[in-house]
Amino acid sequence: MGATNFAELNQQFGIFGQLNVKSGSVALPLIEVENANARARISAYGSHILSFKPHGHEDVLWISQKSDYESGKPIRGGIPICWPWFGSHPTDPQIPIHGFVRRVPWRILSTEKIDEGTTRIEIGLTHAEAMHETWRHRYELKSVITVSEQLDLELITRNIGDEAIVFSEALHTYFNVSEISEIEIEGLAGCAYIEEIDARKTHAIEPGKIRFNSEVDRVYQDTTAECIIIDPGFQRKIRIGKSGSLTTVVWNPWIAKSKRMPDFDDEEYHTMVCVETANAMKNTITLKPGETHSIRTQLSVESIL
Ligand code: BG6
Repeated sequence: MGATNFAELNQQFGIFGQLNVKSGSVALPLIEVENANARARISAYGSHILSFKPHGHEDVLWISQKSDYESGKPIRGGIPICWPWFGSHPTDPQIPIHGFVRRVPWRILSTEKIDEGTTRIEIGLTHAEAMHETWRHRYELKSVITVSEQLDLELITRNIGDEAIVFSEALHTYFNVSEISEIEIEGLAGCAYIEEIDARKTHAIEPGKIRFNSEVDRVYQDTTAECIIIDPGFQRKIRIGKSGSLTTVVWNPWIAKSKRMPDFDDEEYHTMVCVETANAMKNTITLKPGETHSIRTQLSVESIL
C-alpha cells in the first residue's frame, strides 16, 4: 500500500464542523468526530472505535495506557472487532485468538452528517484486502458506526463466495468504569455460561447480578438480553443493547492475568470491564452464498444521582 494522503482523505470524507480525518496509529487514518451530542475517535486499523464520550460524561470506552499501536498487533481497549473466529482458532490453537481483521487496515467507505448531533461512518474490508491462510473465503465486511447521544455499531458480513462460510465474532467492547469491585452488571440472571480460566471450563447458570472479586471470563450462550453496567463511582448506568447476537462475553483479567499481558498495566484491571456482543461457540454463524448477517450493539449512558 502506498503512503496515505491524509489531506486528500480529509477532503473526501471530512465534514466541516463535525468530522476530521488525520494520521493515526500505524500511519492509518484516524477519524475524529465531534457533534452536538458526543465525541468519538475511530481508527481505520481494524475499524476500531477508540473512544466515545457523550458530552457531560466520562468516556464510555476504556483504552490501555500500554496499548501497542503497531502493525500486526491488536489495540488493547476500545472496540476491537473479532472475526471470523472469536477466542481460539477453530482448528489450530497456535494461531492468535479473535480472528485477523482487528490486525489489518480497513477502508473508509463513507461519512455522513445526519443532523447536528448525529454522524454516520461506514468502514469496509473484503477478502481481496485481507485473508488468512486458514480462512480463504470470499467475504465483504462493513462496519456502520453512528455517533449520537448513543453509540451504534453494526457489523455486516456478506458471503460473496460460492460456498457456505462458518464464523464466530465479537464486538469486543472495553468499558471504562470507576472501580471494578464496586460495579454490577445486570441482565444475565438465569443465563447459562461457560467460564474459561486457566484452561478449566466451568458450566453454570448466572444467579443474579454479576459482581467482581476475582478473574471473570464467561461466555453466556443463547441470550438476547440487554445488559446494564451500574457504576456508582461514575454515578451512571451504561446500557448495552444488542441485536443479531446470541452470545455475551464478560471479562475482567484481575491481578494475575493483568501481569501476564505486556500491553496491559498491572493495575488497569480496576478501571475496565469487557461486555462483548458476540456469536460464539454453539451460537456460531453459518452463512450461505449471497446471504448477509448483521450483529449490532447500542451503548448509551444515564446518570444516577
Ligand atoms: C476475551 C476472552 O474476550 O478477550 C479472554 O474471553 C481474553 O479470554 C480477552 O483474554 C483478551 O484477548 P486478547 O487476545 O485481546 O488479549
